[in-house]
Amino acid sequence: MKNALLAWFQANERDLPWRKTRDPYAILVSEVMLQQTQVDRVIPRWRAWLERWPTVEALAAASAADVIVAWQGLGYNRRAINLHRAAQHVATHGWPDDLTELPGVGAYTAAAVGNFAFGHDVLPVDTNVRRVQERTGESFDGSCAQALFDLGATICLARVPRCGDCPLAYACPSRGRRYEPLRKQPAFEGSFRQRRSLALRAVAAGDQPADGDALVSLARDGLVVLHDGVASLPA
Ligand code: ADE
Repeated sequence: MKNALLAWFQANERDLPWRKTRDPYAILVSEVMLQQTQVDRVIPRWRAWLERWPTVEALAAASAADVIVAWQGLGYNRRAINLHRAAQHVATHGWPDDLTELPGVGAYTAAAVGNFAFGHDVLPVDTNVRRVQERTGESFDGSCAQALFDLGATICLARVPRCGDCPLAYACPSRGRRYEPLRKQPAFEGSFRQRRSLALRAVAAGDQPADGDALVSLARDGLVVLHDGVASLPA
């Protein structure tokens, strides 16, 4: 299956800017952004981020407030704080052998950076990759990672896979199957996540939000600081 997958990828690879670099910092930024944000929305934000902070040292030297504001709109703002702290760790100590020592870097992100930047033969397993492996019953190696992302995003879709266009259909035991709608991202409207987002925006704009619970939660994550009940962005 691997050969069929890689041949398909050669002809169908998506043109994604972070595939043109092996800079571990640039790749870390892309992977953290891609954790919960769609590819199309990440592309311009990734470019702008690297223009503003081209190196891990540049990001490490930025203020947390600037980093939080620059992340606005990408969602899950804790990722910004973790990315900033990770940059500070790397700027001081260099890249750790075990990338999961970096804040916000779990098994998936460590594998992705390890593979795309450092050339390790490890497979970063995100939901797309897991789905293709489960359906095909195959275990792919690290050289298949980008091909699996693209197959999962364009052919081996969650609900109605496009098996007629799939290079693995010839040997896939799940060929032709349909699937129930999957658990979606939880609703943002009316959620505590939305309240946090609104409160953070207000603080970034210099206002004092009334939503105390949201503020306390943001403060716990290092996204705001509270002094005598007055909220501001961290220095
Ligand atoms: N999703 C997560 N990482 C990705 C990558 N490097 N390319 C495309 N989609 C991805």
